[in-house]
Amino acid sequence: MSVNTIEQNQQRQALHDYDEIWLFGYGSLIYKVDFAFIQQSPGFISGWQRRFWQGSHDHRGTLEQPGRVVTLIPAAGMHCFGMAYQVTADVFEHLDHREKNGYLRHEVVITLTDKKQSREVLGLIYIADESNEAYLGPASEREIAEHIANSSGPSGENSEYLLSLAKSLRELGAVDDHVFNIERYLRK
Ligand code: BEZ
Repeated sequence: MSVNTIEQNQQRQALHDYDEIWLFGYGSLIYKVDFAFIQQSPGFISGWQRRFWQGSHDHRGTLEQPGRVVTLIPAAGMHCFGMAYQVTADVFEHLDHREKNGYLRHEVVITLTDKKQSREVLGLIYIADESNEAYLGPASEREIAEHIANSSGPSGENSEYLLSLAKSLRELGAVDDHVFNIERYLRK
């Protein structure tokens, strides 16, 4: 797969066929909301786990020294908590560009957990799987923390990405041992 996924994403879903379009954010989309939305709700998706296994050439690292950012890996029985946004189709023009470094859009069932509207909706997520050229794959949480501590790119320090994600997960009341362990190593 090419490292630039803009064109592939534009051909993946017929967004105009959806009654409502929901987007699920599990990484920077939780705390960097630079797009318009109709409503938002905390939520989770089932069967997926967040991992700092994707390389970032364009935001938190460079081509020569990629940073590490999150993607999702299949994990039966697990839940991944994040934030869901109801959006309009045009938002994906911006997001396909923002998340072009190996991420493809996938359909997923999102469980919204807002007190006022607990329900399941069909939505979209961006996932970077092992077939993309920027994929870095597993490493120990200590090694990942060290890697993050030494990386930065056009969007800023890689450590700021990790700390912002950990903070926003805490604010959501979500527990993610992988993210919190790496945060702990980074702060040491
Ligand atoms: C997310 O927050 O869901 C996300 C952000 C960047 C790339 C992929 C996913």
